[in-house]
Parts: sequence; C-alpha cells; structure tokens
Amino acid sequence: MKKITQILFLFSLLSFTTYAAVNDFCVADLKGPDTPSGYQCKPPNTVTADDFVFSGLVAGNTTNTFNAALTSAFVTDFPGLNGLGVSAARLDIAKGGSIPMHTHPGATELLILAEGQITAGFMTPFHLYSKTLKPGDVMVFPQGQLHFQVNSGNDKATAYLAFSSANPGAQLLDLLLFGTSLPSDVIAQTTFLDVEQVNKLKARFGGIGIADS
Ligand SMILES: *[C@@H]1O[C@H](CO)[C@@H](O)[C@H](O)[C@H]1NC(C)=O
Repeated sequence: MKKITQILFLFSLLSFTTYAAVNDFCVADLKGPDTPSGYQCKPPNTVTADDFVFSGLVAGNTTNTFNAALTSAFVTDFPGLNGLGVSAARLDIAKGGSIPMHTHPGATELLILAEGQITAGFMTPFHLYSKTLKPGDVMVFPQGQLHFQVNSGNDKATAYLAFSSANPGAQLLDLLLFGTSLPSDVIAQTTFLDVEQVNKLKARFGGIGIADS
C-alpha cells in the first residue's frame, strides 16, 4: 500500500511537471495583479476560442488634440496575449493629424499602412530615418527609439500596428514635458523654449502650474 502511494505521488509530480513544460498558453486573469512576468493564468478549463480572438480593432474617434486615434489590442484588451510577447493596434489619423514623438521602452513596433499616406520616422543621436509610406508598406521602429507618425496625405490614413510585447506602453514626449506638474521655468531651462511657449503647450496638454511669463 505504501509503495502504491509512493508511485501515485511520483505520478502526480510527473503530471505536474509535464503540465508546466507544455504550458501551451496562459490566458490572463485580469482580475489578478499585473507582474513583470505578466498576469496569472485563467484556469485552463475555462478557456475558449473566444479568448484567442479580439474583434475590437475598429476605427477610433480622431476628434482630439492629435487628430488621431489608437485602438489597442494589448493584453488588457485581449487577455489571450498574456505571456506571448506580441500585441496589435489600429491607428487612424485624420488629415493633418499626427502621433507625436514617443517611445515604447519595451517593444519594437511594426506599422503596416492600409490606407492613405503617412510620413513616419525615428531618430538616433546622429541620424533621422524617415520615409513617406504608401498602402502596403511596412515600417519597423526598433525598440526604445523615439519615433513619430504624421498624416502627410490629403485624406484620412489607417495603419495596423504590431508590437513585440503584450503590453508595449508608450511615453509621449509632449505629455511628459507639458502634461505634468513640472514647473514651467524648469521646462524652459531644460528645453531652451521660452516660458510663454511652455505655458502655451502646458495649456494644450493639461500641465499644471502655468507660470507668469
Ligand atoms: C468623438 O469625440 C468628440 C470629442 O470628444 C465627440 O464630441 C464626438 O461626439 C465623438 N464622436 C463619436 C462618433 O463618438
């Protein structure tokens, strides 16, 4: 009897380790905490095909400061991406609109232009890599590089994006500089803009503490 118990115990260990080794997916349980290694898994017996399909990449509302909208299919929208290191988004930019300078510190980005004309680029300390794209073009923005996308055509533009992270995040330069409580004189001193221009940008991007100029 003792021997059988030992064998059963060994089998239970074996099945546990086998499960870990063939952990085919880990659909996020978004009710739990987000950790550096992603979300906890939903119980596998509750996972369905719908967990692997996202149907929300529809056109966003471009009536805003940037005249542009990003509709995301990140892990927080699409829990099936958890732990897989990929995600997607749809970018709509109205005529004259743009996605201003920003970085995704943890992800490389691919842009696939579907409609319209976008001029996009990224910068390194010594070079600008910029190109005007036509439908069907694919551009890659290497991880962490400061980049931008501008609608340079006469009509709206639509692109699909892919990221090498389930949750790429974004740091928008305008929002970091002019959308926080960073004092106007410090911004002026560190950017070489004059205080009047800084205040104008703060008013536009929701920064607080507009100084006397
Ligand atoms: C788009 O956003 C603007 C500004 O928030 C709003 O006034 C407008 O109703 C929205 N349009 C649609 C179709 O939701």
